[in-house]
Amino acid sequence: MIEVAGLTKRYGTFTAVHDLSFTVRPGEVLGLVGPNGAGKTTTLRCLAGIIPATAGLCRLAGHDVAADPVAAKRTLAFFPDEPRLFDYLTVRQHLAFVARIYGVANHEALAEPLLAELEIADKADQLPGELSRGMKQKLAIACGLLHSPQVLFFDEPLTGLDPLGIRRMKDSILVRARAGATIVLSSHLLHLLEEVCSHVLILKQGEKIADGTLADVSARFSRGEAGVSLEEIFLRATGGAAPVES
Ligand SMILES: Nc1ncnc2c1ncn2[C@@H]1O[C@H](COP(=O)(O)OP(=O)(O)OP(=O)(O)O)[C@@H](O)[C@H]1O
Ligand SMILES: [Mg+2]
Repeated sequence: MIEVAGLTKRYGTFTAVHDLSFTVRPGEVLGLVGPNGAGKTTTLRCLAGIIPATAGLCRLAGHDVAADPVAAKRTLAFFPDEPRLFDYLTVRQHLAFVARIYGVANHEALAEPLLAELEIADKADQLPGELSRGMKQKLAIACGLLHSPQVLFFDEPLTGLDPLGIRRMKDSILVRARAGATIVLSSHLLHLLEEVCSHVLILKQGEKIADGTLADVSARFSRGEAGVSLEEIFLRATGGAAPVES
């Protein structure tokens, strides 16, 4: 469960996120969308406790991110768009290191299927410098999934993955949602979000324009037409089109 109430983040005098509230329940996948600079990464960083919020409350699986950061961080995995890896640890050593930090006891038994799922098992003894960009991203994802997080934040996780990798990533996200994980996914690949997300939240200039199930948000911006794509909804919502009153 992710509970966000009145989240505000200011960088100096600039307000990047203003009074944002939403809830994501176990099993739900929320697509966080908005134009460049809307505040998506800022929101995810605040929720993951990477940067402090200026105001508001963020709770992950019942743990307050500001008041109880260690407990909150134990529950989450944050996948940034640019993977950060250790130059002198191999793929396998990355997983062993992460396992020690998170106290994952049976990490070898967990690591092998994860590497196979992400199709980097044949690179287990390579260093990051010997991996392609997409493989580095897959390693970062394997590291994040090792401690079986209940709350998953993905910031543009599909950048750099090949079409098969994107499809597999989509399946991995859905499998974890069905197993009860709570997931927020920020991406500009709206057709993929449509396939993965149960809910969507549209941000513009740090403010929430709309949120709800895909069907709810679609109905709000569809002007009565059926089958309006998320891309069209996005354009209407962020381009200033007036919501259709029902
Ligand atoms: N460290 C920072 N200091 C000052 N301003 C920042 C900082 N990080 C982000 N911003 C500003 O906050 C706003 C939101 O940025 P953010 O990275 O959250 O946007 P985003 O929605 O993730 O955009 P994108 O789609 O391009 O990834 C932008 O105007 C950005 O310039
Ligand atoms: Mg961003």
